[in-house]
Amino acid sequence: MEQKIIQIQNNFLEKIQKAKSLKELDEYFLALFGKTGEITLLPKEFPKLSKEKRKQIGPLFNQTKQKLEKAIQLQRNKVREESYKKLETEKFTLQPQESQGKKRQGHLHPVTKLENEIVELFTKLGFKQYNAPHIDTEGYNFELLNIPQGHPARDLWDTLYIDTSNVKTTPGELLLKTHTSNAQIRIMREFKPPIRMMSIDRCFRYENVDARHEHTLDQFEIVYIDKGVNMANLQYLSEYFFKGILGKDIKARLRPKYYPFVEPGAGVDGLCIFCKGKGCKVCGGVGWLELAGAGMIHPTVLKNGGIDPSIYSGIAWGAGPERMAMLKYGVKDIRSFKNGDLKFLEKF
Ligand code: PHE
Repeated sequence: MEQKIIQIQNNFLEKIQKAKSLKELDEYFLALFGKTGEITLLPKEFPKLSKEKRKQIGPLFNQTKQKLEKAIQLQRNKVREESYKKLETEKFTLQPQESQGKKRQGHLHPVTKLENEIVELFTKLGFKQYNAPHIDTEGYNFELLNIPQGHPARDLWDTLYIDTSNVKTTPGELLLKTHTSNAQIRIMREFKPPIRMMSIDRCFRYENVDARHEHTLDQFEIVYIDKGVNMANLQYLSEYFFKGILGKDIKARLRPKYYPFVEPGAGVDGLCIFCKGKGCKVCGGVGWLELAGAGMIHPTVLKNGGIDPSIYSGIAWGAGPERMAMLKYGVKDIRSFKNGDLKFLEKF
């Protein structure tokens, strides 16, 4: 047993001290301390030993464990420092294109491409583009959309507020728009029905960033107001959108969902593009994926926009182009779109 411990120690110490990358060190760490690591498994053999032997082996084992942990930590720091040094001395010059033998050509970002397709699709139906500011008032982003201050529905949008304590002339609280719905009231106040407008723009949220959530995200939204607009139009537009972007066989399904500025409100699901409804890992076995939020514009919101709800009705409909791009191009992590990784972008 003693020999075994000493052997592990010598064997790994040498490898660790020679390691040149963090990846290599992670591998050694796992080989030692992972679930089936050599150090992890050793104590399982202790019960076989005599009492005296155990008294000897215990401290040796602990020492070895600490030594190896420390060695990995030290080497990690060393590798990091080396890479910083390299960065400092490295010159950042753009490679002359000809010297690589072939010309490098840029192209549109995959999300931009998809957004252009969306805009084209709805332009065909007579929708025009309209974008509201990124920095906006609580009024346009929340209050006029039927979400008063202190209302629990505000929790649906984790909001980044702007500190205006040093600014004298602010019209109430300012924030970074959490959704393209901040364009709704402006559209209603600027145009008379019939209205066919779309907004495609960047929005911001105080998110816990992970593979499906970003603090900076794109949204696409339409506002359609006329006499006699109804849920059937909503169903039609949803399916028109999914078929146009994701494929002819992608049906749409409306499910009741609460948003304060629409009534009735709907979660809009698209048939899962991977299993076509059979149920798979991506859709969690349901056969459908939630792709948009929508509904009939709430009468109070129409009134706030200066439109008479006894004459006109309207649809608001919003989706996330990045989520659609993830599905369309099979991208697993939403962060890939904005982290500037050329290797990723060059695949498109
Ligand atoms: N603004 C909503 C969101 O950010 C989406 C939505 C738009 C819902 C239009 C209904 C109508 O989640």
